[in-house]
Amino acid sequence: MDRTTPAPEALHDVELTVNGQVRRARVPARRLLSDLLRHDLELTGTHVGCEHGVCGACTVLLDGMPVRSCLTLAVSVSGRAVTTVEGLAAEDGTLHPVQRAFQEHHGLQCGFCTPGFIMTACAFLAEEPAPDAATIRDAMSGNLCRCTGYAGILAAVAGAAEELAGTGVDPRERHRPEGAA
Ligand code: FES
Ligand code: FES
Repeated sequence: MDRTTPAPEALHDVELTVNGQVRRARVPARRLLSDLLRHDLELTGTHVGCEHGVCGACTVLLDGMPVRSCLTLAVSVSGRAVTTVEGLAAEDGTLHPVQRAFQEHHGLQCGFCTPGFIMTACAFLAEEPAPDAATIRDAMSGNLCRCTGYAGILAAVAGAAEELAGTGVDPRERHRPEGAA
């Protein structure tokens, strides 16, 4: 037996809904959700920083809940719904209220951490539509930013909460500008 050639890695079919669309891929059992999104599905809006669950840059929503995609195996999300930052802006490119708040409140500089913060904020605001400053700080504390000093990020989340207040909009869903069908 040839001991130098490793056996080919078994591949597994995965089918999931990503940003409202059914997507399929054949992946090894150890493929990470972050790699499935970025490499197999070419959705590079999800960023990968530490790759071990610390920085939060890779945060996406899994059935509406925030998860670290670098700690999630792709095969484990078959049949489930994933939302990435690409799933937030309206079809015509109009930014989602949380994205706009980050822009208006200077909640980003290099932007590397931004998709993770935005996905975390969307899930948080769905649960806590009228948060106080301490609650926002606590909710965002699992994500790291090396540029902004966080003040703009916290202001952005507060601003988004104000804008969304009373609208009945679920911030985890794709933005629908007024007048859009
Ligand atoms: S890349 Fe996933 S937590 Fe840092
Ligand atoms: S904006 Fe650069 S890491 Fe947060």
